[in-house]
Amino acid sequence: MQKGVIRVFFLTAVLIPLLTLSACNSTSSSTALSQTTTAATSSIINSTVSTATASSTLANTFNAMATLGKTIYDKYGASSHGQNGQGGSSPALMGSHATLTKYNTAQGLLTYISTNMPLEAPGSLSHQDYLDILCYLLVQNNYVPADTVFNESQLSNITLK
Ligand code: HEM
Repeated sequence: MQKGVIRVFFLTAVLIPLLTLSACNSTSSSTALSQTTTAATSSIINSTVSTATASSTLANTFNAMATLGKTIYDKYGASSHGQNGQGGSSPALMGSHATLTKYNTAQGLLTYISTNMPLEAPGSLSHQDYLDILCYLLVQNNYVPADTVFNESQLSNITLK
């Protein structure tokens, strides 16, 4: 009889709470594990995405950027400098009447347009927009082979002649 009471006490007061506690712990540790796994997976995905972005920037040629530059030029420059850069109320930027050689290098031309143009709002475009327009001017004037990979740090080495 006394043994039976001890067994019931052991079961209810010690064994059942112990089993319940260990079940809870294993649930929460498996949740933590799955959270860690999810975080690790998403960080791998993120780093893959940023690598892809970086390599697509590296893959840009002058020609690819010039295509973007044309749409920006059409919006901000064509009304003054002419639809094809032939000149209008403002000097020609492309073709036989253009005189951009005085800026000496592609870097010199970039500095000029990004600090002085568009005339009514100098410096108002993004740096990327100025780079794209620069590429458009360089390609249209045959200052650079169109399929060359663009590298901003090389702009001082591109002579305008
Ligand atoms: C983002 C668009 C534009 C670009 C890339 C651009 C580019 C240029 C460049 C490269 C020159 C130098 C030309 C040379 O020295 O022979 C120039 C000069 C000039 N541009 Fe623009 N331009 C833009 C928009 C405009 C607009 C909208 C106007 C007029 C509202 C304008 C008016 C002028 C004038 C008057 C000059 C002569 C400035 C001077 O000789 O001091 N440009 N532009």
